[in-house]
Amino acid sequence: MKHTVFHYHTLSEVKQEAEKLQVFLPLSEDTATLFQPLTFGEKTADNRIAFLPMEGTDGTETGAPGELTCRRYLRFAQGGPGIIWFEAVSTLPEARASAHQLYLTEENVDAFAALLNDIRETSLRENGYVPVIIMQATNSGRYAKPHGYPEPLAAYHCPPVEPERLPDERIVTDDDLMRFEAAYEKTTKLCQQAGFDGMDIKCCHRYLACELLSAYEREGLYGGSFENRTRFLKNCYRASAAAVTRKDFFLTSRINVYDGYPWPYGFGVARDRSLEPDFTEPLQLIRDLREEFSIPVVNISMGNPYQNPHVSRPYDHGNYVPDEHPICGVSRLMSGIRTIQEAMPDLPVIGSGFSYLRQYSGNLAAGMVGSGYCAMAGFGRMTFADPLFVRELRTSGQMDSRKSCVTCGACAGRLRAGIPAGCLVRDREVYHP
Ligand SMILES: Cc1cc2nc3c(=O)[nH]c(=O)nc-3n(C[C@H](O)[C@H](O)[C@H](O)COP(=O)(O)O)c2cc1C
Repeated sequence: MKHTVFHYHTLSEVKQEAEKLQVFLPLSEDTATLFQPLTFGEKTADNRIAFLPMEGTDGTETGAPGELTCRRYLRFAQGGPGIIWFEAVSTLPEARASAHQLYLTEENVDAFAALLNDIRETSLRENGYVPVIIMQATNSGRYAKPHGYPEPLAAYHCPPVEPERLPDERIVTDDDLMRFEAAYEKTTKLCQQAGFDGMDIKCCHRYLACELLSAYEREGLYGGSFENRTRFLKNCYRASAAAVTRKDFFLTSRINVYDGYPWPYGFGVARDRSLEPDFTEPLQLIRDLREEFSIPVVNISMGNPYQNPHVSRPYDHGNYVPDEHPICGVSRLMSGIRTIQEAMPDLPVIGSGFSYLRQYSGNLAAGMVGSGYCAMAGFGRMTFADPLFVRELRTSGQMDSRKSCVTCGACAGRLRAGIPAGCLVRDREVYHP
């Protein structure tokens, strides 16, 4: 079904549209529920809003936070989310998604530490509390572009994402994977040294650890069985866990529970080659991580932002018009998040994909959190458009349509182009075409 651009003027109109489409979309007018603290592991988040990782492509060439990186995070800190889930930070130079992706090293760890201090000071001064700050450690895998052009480190040949078959040497060997795993140990040490509260071993959006989850047809130690396909992620955890020295430091992951590709190319999908989600394996994986590595919290996402972005961030304007109504996309995300949270009631789940609803996304967050379908609501694009929306929700129970994200995709376009990403609509002084 083709859709029309977002045109809802009241929350009731959004509700009616969801009813018409017969999709799950819990909306609540009472947003106070978002302002209850959440304790997980040794940490307490002041409220139930998380700012999701949003890469800015604005690091220095050596991987340190640049001027615009610091500006973004200080705006986030001012907003006052309970968690700042810091953007993708590379574990190796060849694994960077761009020449300006952050990359944590011994040489620049002090710059990260200084930024964290500034974030905490700003939030404390402006809001009276500090956010929990989690760093996302990544290997960009198939989407590695360390010098500004593609230098893929792919898990396997995947026809749905390869318009032209990659040269065989672009498929990483088992030995490469072992080397990549080992790099997480050093990153974990540095991450603690910088002062992060926890580290995310990124496993979403078809970057390396995520792509391996669907390597059903790969030979060797990392393909075929569930055990083999999850080996890389778990070995990254083992390497990281060996480096944890701070008692209050935790490991976690942002996990794709559904990729949007049919079997044998997608994780979390039915084996009948349809696009129906099947969360059996994602649930098993999250249970394993909980049991073996005591993850205190998990973030759930879906899709591949390069190939089927409507699955991970439903939008109005993109480089193609999807065959589904964006509200159906939001609903798919919310249903998946709910399934995981209900199956694991003791593990706080952070949801993703709320921004499409603009000024009503706080009502969706309240509906999800208030009903116990997730413990926290994570916001991506909205944080670029209007990082202060958390304060506004707290004081007025509403978000301002004049400041909200309009899901135009321009921030993602800049990211893909390898130039600093921000909001071209609401932050024009800094980001303009
Ligand atoms: C410009 C841009 C940068 C992003 N960077 C990251 C990232 O570093 N790590 C990640 O896991 N997701 C990243 N995402 C995905 C978002 O965290 C989020 O999942 C997505 O935008 C959907 O949430 P939303 O509807 O609130 O925007 C990025 C998205 C955009 C548009």
